[in-house]
Amino acid sequence: MSDSAATGGFSADAGEGTRAVRAGLPDPVKYEPTLPGPVFAAHFHLPGEPTGPYTYGRDENPTWTHLERAIGELEAPGHDDVETLAFASGMAAVSAVLFSQLRTGDTVVLPSDGYQALPLVRAQLEAYGIVVRTAPTGGDAQLDVLDGAKLLWIESPSNPGLDVCDIRRLVEAAHTRGALVAVDNTLATPLGQRPLELGADFSVASGTKQLTGHGDVLLGHVTGRAGEPMSAVRRWRKIVGAIPGPMEAWLAHRSIATLQMRVDRQTAGALAVAEALRSRSEVSGLRYPGLPGDPSHEIASRQMRRFGCVVSFTLPTRARAERFLDALRLVDDATSFGGVRSTAERRGRWGGDAVPEGFIRLSVGAEDPDDLVADVLRALDESGR
Ligand SMILES: Cc1ncc(COP(=O)(O)O)c(C=O)c1O
Repeated sequence: MSDSAATGGFSADAGEGTRAVRAGLPDPVKYEPTLPGPVFAAHFHLPGEPTGPYTYGRDENPTWTHLERAIGELEAPGHDDVETLAFASGMAAVSAVLFSQLRTGDTVVLPSDGYQALPLVRAQLEAYGIVVRTAPTGGDAQLDVLDGAKLLWIESPSNPGLDVCDIRRLVEAAHTRGALVAVDNTLATPLGQRPLELGADFSVASGTKQLTGHGDVLLGHVTGRAGEPMSAVRRWRKIVGAIPGPMEAWLAHRSIATLQMRVDRQTAGALAVAEALRSRSEVSGLRYPGLPGDPSHEIASRQMRRFGCVVSFTLPTRARAERFLDALRLVDDATSFGGVRSTAERRGRWGGDAVPEGFIRLSVGAEDPDDLVADVLRALDESGR
């Protein structure tokens, strides 16, 4: 945030719903809307010396400023020493951090079980002479490959396996070795987890998922402490031009007002679905960090405030998984996650994740949990006939 910690008129002890509803709002101006509309501008009037805040549309835009303040207030409430940058997509944000911080000869540690575009990123990093090491998220295995690294990249919970690592522990180990730490916070959202409070240097996310939550916007964001690393991320955005459109930025800001309601509802629905799946004999490998007994539950309970909307599990065969997806009525067969309408997919169809053929990633939407559970159980019955 460029000026003050909170802009929406809420007090320091305001609840998360209040914060979400008012995050990033400018001071009221008579006859102006509460959330100013999108500013469509490639350039701004700029007589004299070309100083900001608004000069050229690839550098800054007032609609981004409001959105960036809103995200910053949720990622690091009460901190006026952090900065948030909005991007055209989650991958634009991910790439901005990696490629702005790393140089030829540097070493980076990535998760071996993270988002399926990371192997593509790895190939590009290696093409630039950056050394890439990988280790799984679970069991804090990245600890073992940290020596000499410049940057540690964490994805917790991981997509699609939903493993969780001890972020604070990994951050301490990385900082001791002089490495920066970035956490992909996509699955958790800032209402589920605040990586900067756990010590990380960057919280990075795809806002395409639950942050915007309606399956109609591509967006990314990075929050970090103001300083040279974040300045480098800003320069990268300017150089590459990976900027969000004003309409997307405005839609995202509007959507954040309902973030707490959506996240709470979807978290409750995900737990209900996970509990229902637990008793089914055809389901194996059920994972949900919010489910007591899940391998991630203990550490997730310590560092997360909400456990997210994604449940993963495996059906016995690819054919069974496809029949299950076909039989669902309230759940769309679609990729992505975090939207108010439930989606599910057989993740193996993309070929990028090390998952069994019958592996399903189910994103729980804002439908009534009872209706969803009934739909999932009926589809399981029908797919077994
Ligand atoms: C964990 C994670 N990080 C990053 C991304 C990339 O986001 P986007 O699709 O908005 O580029 C995704 C997309 O699914 C993701 O799941």
